[in-house]
Amino acid sequence: MSIIGQSLTRPDAARKTTGETRFLTDISVENMVHGAPVYSSIPFGEFKTIDLSIAEKVDGFIAFVSAQDVPVENQIGVIIPDQPLFADKTVRYVGDSIGLVIAKTPEAAVAASRLIKVDYVEENPYLSIDESRDATENFIHESNLACQHRVRKGDTDSGFKEADHIFEARFKTPYQEHYYLEPQACIVIPEKDGKIKILGSLQCPFYIQKAVARVFGIATDKILVEQAPTGGAFGGKEDIPSEVCARAAVAAVKIGLPVKVVYNRRDDIQLTSKRHPFQMHYKVGVKHDGTLVAANILLEENAGAYATLSTVVSYRSAAQAMGPYVIPHIHVDSNSYYTNLPPTGAFRGFGSPQAAFGHERMMNIIADKLNMDPVEIRLKNIVKPGSETQTAQVLNESVGAEETIRKATKSANWTHFNPDQSGRYKHGIGISTIHYGNCLGAAGWHMDGSGVNIKISPSGDIYVAYGLVEMGQGSETVVTQMTGDALGVSPNRIIVLPTDSVQVPDSGPAVASRNVVMTGNAIRNAAQTLMPILKKAASELMGCDASEIAIMDDKVTDIESGTEISFHELCDFMGKSNVPMEFTGWWHTPKLEYNAETGIGEAYFSYSFATHIAKVRVDTLTGQVFVDKIIAAHDVGKAINPAGIEGQVEGGSAQGIGWATTEDFKMDRGVVTTPNLSTYLLPTALDVAEVETIIVEKPEPEGPWGAKGIGEPSIIPTAGAIANAVSSALGIQMNEIPLTPERVLNAINGKIE
Ligand code: MOS
Repeated sequence: MSIIGQSLTRPDAARKTTGETRFLTDISVENMVHGAPVYSSIPFGEFKTIDLSIAEKVDGFIAFVSAQDVPVENQIGVIIPDQPLFADKTVRYVGDSIGLVIAKTPEAAVAASRLIKVDYVEENPYLSIDESRDATENFIHESNLACQHRVRKGDTDSGFKEADHIFEARFKTPYQEHYYLEPQACIVIPEKDGKIKILGSLQCPFYIQKAVARVFGIATDKILVEQAPTGGAFGGKEDIPSEVCARAAVAAVKIGLPVKVVYNRRDDIQLTSKRHPFQMHYKVGVKHDGTLVAANILLEENAGAYATLSTVVSYRSAAQAMGPYVIPHIHVDSNSYYTNLPPTGAFRGFGSPQAAFGHERMMNIIADKLNMDPVEIRLKNIVKPGSETQTAQVLNESVGAEETIRKATKSANWTHFNPDQSGRYKHGIGISTIHYGNCLGAAGWHMDGSGVNIKISPSGDIYVAYGLVEMGQGSETVVTQMTGDALGVSPNRIIVLPTDSVQVPDSGPAVASRNVVMTGNAIRNAAQTLMPILKKAASELMGCDASEIAIMDDKVTDIESGTEISFHELCDFMGKSNVPMEFTGWWHTPKLEYNAETGIGEAYFSYSFATHIAKVRVDTLTGQVFVDKIIAAHDVGKAINPAGIEGQVEGGSAQGIGWATTEDFKMDRGVVTTPNLSTYLLPTALDVAEVETIIVEKPEPEGPWGAKGIGEPSIIPTAGAIANAVSSALGIQMNEIPLTPERVLNAINGKIE
């Protein structure tokens, strides 16, 4: 029986729950010393002098490295080269890197870092999107616009003329801090032959390889990157580990000793990227019956001091701005502006949760104005097989959007939601439907390939190395299942190796919900080479024709005679007969036709779809929002591991509940004033809703076994569903999150802006 579609227990579960797994804080290497970051305390300006005289006296102080110590290129920007590894005079946010102190103990490094005196000349910082956009001089970089993307489909002027109604609204979504439970951490070891070995808590080993190689001006294969067990990432360990590792590498090579860096929580929050705050303006024209005709959408994003992955966020949010609905005329502008605030970058969904908040609030506002049911207006406009997306891409296969709406509303008993509203608590129900382009899309197509290396040992064990990573999401489990199914062997024969740049070619980043699709297809391609060799060896051993061999459930069978041997007997024979036992597989996403000027074409080769329905209770006395239930229907193409999908959906929903209600990230002139869990309120077990996961399977022909991504789709609809539910409970359009008690009470008291 195939193990695809079964809820296999995670191979890493026991070691992680018993504490056997060693994370970076637990790992030491010989002669290791420790680094602590020194960073700007002002949001914008220049530093004039760095005074080490007191810091140097700290017991255990070893060295201080800064821009002067960079061997070749002082540049770390992953897509746009706008970010120095160490600031060279100019600092652009509180947290901009000035240097790294190295000491014998972590405590000494931190103590010394606090005693380094930096003199600044301050400039007026830009602290909001509006200030940044409207600036005419003294820009943060060459200009204050970090990047922009657009969509120009149809003729919006004539579209709005055809419309019976035109509605407009503005929306705002806030920062979100990743709050991965394990902070940024690495150990960098200078090797004798000029190589640099890196062990890191990370998502993208090959980004680190390239980044460190650029800083040192050496070949990427001189940088050996191994992933340590990683305690959460959510996009926050996409590009950030490159800078953490590169700074440690500069120090390690300079002093000739292994350097370990582990950020404390306050530094981690102050220095590293977050979710982009968005401000959005939607103008949408519709027919009397709710049919969408035209839209003009402006998305503005706070990119912070450096672009990091803003281009991806801006591209994705532009392509998905109107959601999974058919619309003939649409113009979208998606602009990211630099500010003197911590950089914003990759965070689960890359701008999709923000854009989804916009289109899903807008759909409800339109439904309200037309006196339509929010489900009805969605069903009227939803993409179906043969429909065109907002970028004029025709979707033929694996279009499960409508089914997610139907299944979720049925399970939620949508039409019969009629609670008692007479008391202190007002009840509400809200729906939100989304699509999510799988993998890197047209903009990142050039790097959208991934590999695996499968090695069969004479004992019958199978070692799988792959280029993407396990970061808590359950990757090791699905890689085990997919390899087992492709080779006809049981999961307990399969050993998934920690990701290591030495083992596999550059497989691109572990982002964009691409792991199952990329790695699964690479496994299938490896199996295509491998199976004929296994069968040929079996035919020699069993004295039959290779075409008569079947390998399944750890057994090798001659179908003709019914003779059977065990898989490990075959492997043992292969080990003795000098045949190849190591196989690589590679897969690249299909070619996409796309025009970057107009934003028209195949933005992504495939889309995941989802609908969330939130049931909420609002305490009209305190303003507190309780999310009682999330019903989440997800079209995943094919569920490789249903329990893993439930895990993603429950986790994504929890993170969405936090973003929509409790997580209120605050700064004062660029200094984070919510740097811990007592001020930045992640939902606890008591705050998260009961989540009901409904799996919809519309197979994707290009996906392995028909599968599509789930990691990010799980969070994208949640906030819109909650805001729609709260709006319906109160009869007030709640167009900004988080829905903190203060914001909700202000709305109830008529103080909403
Ligand atoms: Mo993620 S935002 O795909 O790392």
